[in-house]
Amino acid sequence: MKKVTVSGLLKKKHAGEKITALTAYDASFAKLFDDEQIDALLIGDSLGMVLLGQDDTLNVTVDDIAYHTQAVRRGVQRAFVLADMPFMSYATPERAYDNAASLMAAGASMVKLEGGAWLCDTIRGLVQRSVPVCGHIGLTPQSVHVFGGFKVQGRQSEQAQQIIDDALALEKAGIQLLVLECVPTSLAKTITDKLSIPVIGIGAGKHTDGQILVMHDMLGVSANYMPKFSKNYLAETGDLRKAVNSYIDEVHSGAFPSDDHSFE
Ligand code: KIV
Ligand code: NA
Repeated sequence: MKKVTVSGLLKKKHAGEKITALTAYDASFAKLFDDEQIDALLIGDSLGMVLLGQDDTLNVTVDDIAYHTQAVRRGVQRAFVLADMPFMSYATPERAYDNAASLMAAGASMVKLEGGAWLCDTIRGLVQRSVPVCGHIGLTPQSVHVFGGFKVQGRQSEQAQQIIDDALALEKAGIQLLVLECVPTSLAKTITDKLSIPVIGIGAGKHTDGQILVMHDMLGVSANYMPKFSKNYLAETGDLRKAVNSYIDEVHSGAFPSDDHSFE
């Protein structure tokens, strides 16, 4: 079995093959997703919401992510594993280096940071120290209190241009993957076309190089609320493995996300 690597993900972008990703927080689900050939698994700080029932992601710690990364890593043979840097864990470059080191030691192959051009020095420093980095722009949930809620970003042209500029700056600083969350489909397409690295969307329409969903949303078991852009595959299939397969098939075919699960 061939392991999914960052260069494998890049090849998929160039071949026009969609990348499939889910969040995972434990070894058993990670193994199930891995068995069904998911490309990438994210230990997301969404765990604060879907595992702990909190209203946002701000209380999650590096130790929390490291603990769940160890568990996920034990379940995975093939998929690419990336881990979220939680709120304030990359407030300065030095903190980012130490905290990224903990997540890499726990089994991550890449770390994800939320934010735009202000992060470029931190990203350059991480990459120089051999930590691969994924960016995350658009609706960045750690900024929920700045945004005043979980709101679609980039609807106005000035804000859209800012997101494009951020994407280009992050790529130049050295990110090898970008998550784009809750932006209009047309903006996500523009960014995906402009970047030479893979762009993984969530609530960003069908034109990104891949899709990611929070596993609890995709199975319809989230304790809180179900976002419009997600889809309950368990309800449709009645079976866990079939649900995962159906998600993967629909991303590959372009059936997911439909316009109902996107923003314009
Ligand atoms: O924490 C998370 O689950 C995420 C994904 C939604 C991209 O950051
Ligand atoms: Na996250």
